[in-house]
Order: sequence, then structure tokens, then C-alpha cells
Amino acid sequence: MKGSPRPPTGSRRLRVALVLSAVGMLAMAGAVVLPGDASAASTLGASAAERGRYFGTAVAAGRLNDSAYTTILNREFNQVTAENEMKIDALQPQQGQFTYGNADRIVQHARARGMQVRGHTLAWHSQQPGWMQNMSGTALRNAMLNHVTQVATHFRGQIAWWDVVNEAFQDGSSGARRDSNLQRTGNDWIEAAFRAARQADPNAQLCYNDYNTDNWNDAKTQAVYRMVQDFKNRGVPIDCVGLQSHFTGGSNYPSNYRTTLSSFAALGVDVHITELDIRNAPTDAYRNVVNDCLAVARCKGITVWGIRDSDSWRSGESPLLFNGSGQKKPAYDAVLTALNSGTGPNPTTPPPTGNPTTPPPTGGQCTATMTPGQSWGDRYNTSVTVSGATTWSVVVAITPPQKISATWSGSPTWDSSGNVMTMRSDGSGNTFGFTTMTNGNSTARPQIRSCTSG
Ligand code: XIL
Repeated sequence: MKGSPRPPTGSRRLRVALVLSAVGMLAMAGAVVLPGDASAASTLGASAAERGRYFGTAVAAGRLNDSAYTTILNREFNQVTAENEMKIDALQPQQGQFTYGNADRIVQHARARGMQVRGHTLAWHSQQPGWMQNMSGTALRNAMLNHVTQVATHFRGQIAWWDVVNEAFQDGSSGARRDSNLQRTGNDWIEAAFRAARQADPNAQLCYNDYNTDNWNDAKTQAVYRMVQDFKNRGVPIDCVGLQSHFTGGSNYPSNYRTTLSSFAALGVDVHITELDIRNAPTDAYRNVVNDCLAVARCKGITVWGIRDSDSWRSGESPLLFNGSGQKKPAYDAVLTALNSGTGPNPTTPPPTGNPTTPPPTGGQCTATMTPGQSWGDRYNTSVTVSGATTWSVVVAITPPQKISATWSGSPTWDSSGNVMTMRSDGSGNTFGFTTMTNGNSTARPQIRSCTSG
């Protein structure tokens, strides 16, 4: 998803010089966000997408007829999770009889609008249909595996991530598995579920999802961490960990949350914040969660557990981003601002390659130093600061098929190939910048050829 193109405004300090004709940008019209506006997306989903992330919500099929609800859903979010409709009791109310209607409605609503879908959840001790609650042993193990296979097959190709197993660990200090009928079928039930899911839908990312796994020091967090580490070591097919992050019902945002995210990521799995809600929706905690996710490259996105407070499973705590009338709460503004400012190391900024500064200046006496700026899936910004001259020209070369799509704070001219730009000072200062479209080459970086004073 791309942010919407915006026209340059005269009021901006950075003057934007579009160089469409010089670089043949017309073919890419619609894919450009101008540098000065790149951080000013106006919806959660668009802003997250600019940072290579998603921003999603839990959706209830029964509310898809409520136009106030769908207006916000369609405008703000680019990912959905079915709040209840893909749970075992919803999909297989009688053994062997699958009812996909409500789940399919949600999936279709989402996919028709380019939203990614998280499947939730294939194997869980809770919200089991009566027939499954009464099963045990080999019969239950086989029924669970059959459910995983049938459901993952039904949705194959439509689900970006599956919560294969949900909430399999105990709260408290034991670090043990939660006792459940599934657990009593044998400790390997979790990996068996992951293997069945991989076989049924090899393209879905497979996640383990849990709550109270946010504080890095908690025994439960450590226990899940060790399980994921063990799965990675033994080749059990796991791709991601979901932290529900319900900071409601007595749980709080922990100050070491970022450590938890980055520690899981360091195991070689992606991290997702899957069910976020925060008691009374304080702006600081919401802002912290966003900043923590943006600081961890493998934190792929955030899903809030409902749209309006009135949609929340804990509506008494008013924990969401929109009030019951569908108006944006202060927490919404905090989240959008944090997304737009992209606090923390920009995880999609590739490391600079090549020589970041000029070779010894040739013509006049100046030095040009390149600094990588923000980057998105398809383009990245670079700023160049000149020292040792007040008027100057700097020659920058880029590697085709990359193309410079926009510049600011300088006067550019181009050679006939469009790959070499000479940027002259325009009196606005000693720093200029430009946006480069990667056009499929995500590794090449601009080279500064020369810096000439005068
Ligand atoms: C909740 C739903 O929001 C409620 O509507 C339902 O009554 C109970 O389940 N962890 C999960 C979610 O993984 O599936 C739960 O959703 C909230 C806690």
C-alpha cells in the first residue's frame, strides 16, 4: 500500500522540485510520496504501510452491516483478524460439519479492499465446540489435526498469518504449559499443529500467539521464548510470535516491552502485536507500543482488538482508539503521530553501501556527505550536506533501474541518461535531499561523484 500522492504546498520549508520528465516518472505515477510529506499519512494503515508495517483491527462479522463501523474500518485499517468467526466452535460446531459463512464474509470484505488477514486461531483450549471439549487422547489429537488441516486448506492462499496455537502456557511463575485437553494429548501437540498447518497452507506464516508474554522478565514470556527457540533449533515450522498485548483486565504495558519484541525477533521469527487494547487508552502507553514496534525491524504490525470502545470485549475499560460514536480519541492521534514520525531506528533503512562521502574534492573546495533518510518498500530518501562552500554543485549518480523521483532544497539538472544529477545550491542552505525509487534494486545506493564550490 502506498501513501497518497500530495501536491507540494508553498508553505513547506523544504521546497520540492518534481523532476518527473527528467527521470521518466510518469510510469510510476501514484507510487510517489514527496519527501516533505512522506511522514504525513492521514490514516493508521497508510502510515504503517509507509513503514513496511500493517495496522489492523479485530472485526466482528455481525458489525459489517453497520456503516459507521465499516466506514472507519475501510478508511483506517489495512489488516483484519476475525474476532470470533475463525475459532474452532465457529468453524466446526458439530464434528465434521464446517460452517465458513461468517469467516468468509470477513475474509472477502478484507481482501476486496487489499487488507491482509490474520487467521485466528486453529488450536486453542478455549472456545472449543462441545464435542471437542468432551474428547481426549488420540481421538482429540486427530480431531485437532483434522481441524487444522481442513481449515487451513479452506482458507489457503487468503491468510497471511495463522495463529496456529493460542494461549498454551500458564500464567504465573511456573513457566509450564497450561493444562488443557489438548495438552493432555502429549507435549508435542503444538509442533504437530504447526506441521499440519504448514502442510495445508505452505504460504501462510505460522505464529504462536499468547497474552501476558509482554514483560520480558515474566516466567511465561521466558517459557514461550524457550519453546520458540527450541522449535527453531529443531526445524519445527514456526515463522512468528504474536503478543496479544491486552493491557486491560489488570495487565499493564511493561517498560521492557521493546526488549521482549527484539528478543523474540533475534530468534529469527517475526513479531506481531495481535490484540492490542489498553485500559482507558492512555496516549503514552499507545505511543510507546507503536514506537517499540517501529524500533524492531521484525515487528510487522499492530492489530487493535476492536474499532470503537463499544465494540470492545472489555468495553467497560474504554481501551480502543475510537469512542462509541466513532470519533477519534487522543490515543488515536498519539498512534498516528508516532507512526508518522517513525520514532526509533528506521528498520527499513538499508545500511549505506559504498563510500558515503566524496572522494577528495576535485574542482573547488567542498565536501558532500550523504545520510540515509527514511525508506519505504519501494523508495528511500537521502540527504546530502555540503561543507566548505556556500554556493556549490554536487554530482550524484544513481544505479539504474533506480531513478530519482523527487528532490528538495536544490536546483537539479540531469545528464541525458537521467542517472547523473548535478544539484546546485539554491540559497536555501547547505543540505539538499532526494527520493530514489528502487524499481526492484533494493541494494544499490547513490554515489557522490564530486563537490565543486562556486
Ligand atoms: C475474545 C473476543 O473478543 C470475545 O468476543 C469472546 O467472547 C472471547 O474471546 N485472547 C484471544 C481472543 O486470543 O480470541 C479473545 O477474544 C481475547 C483474548
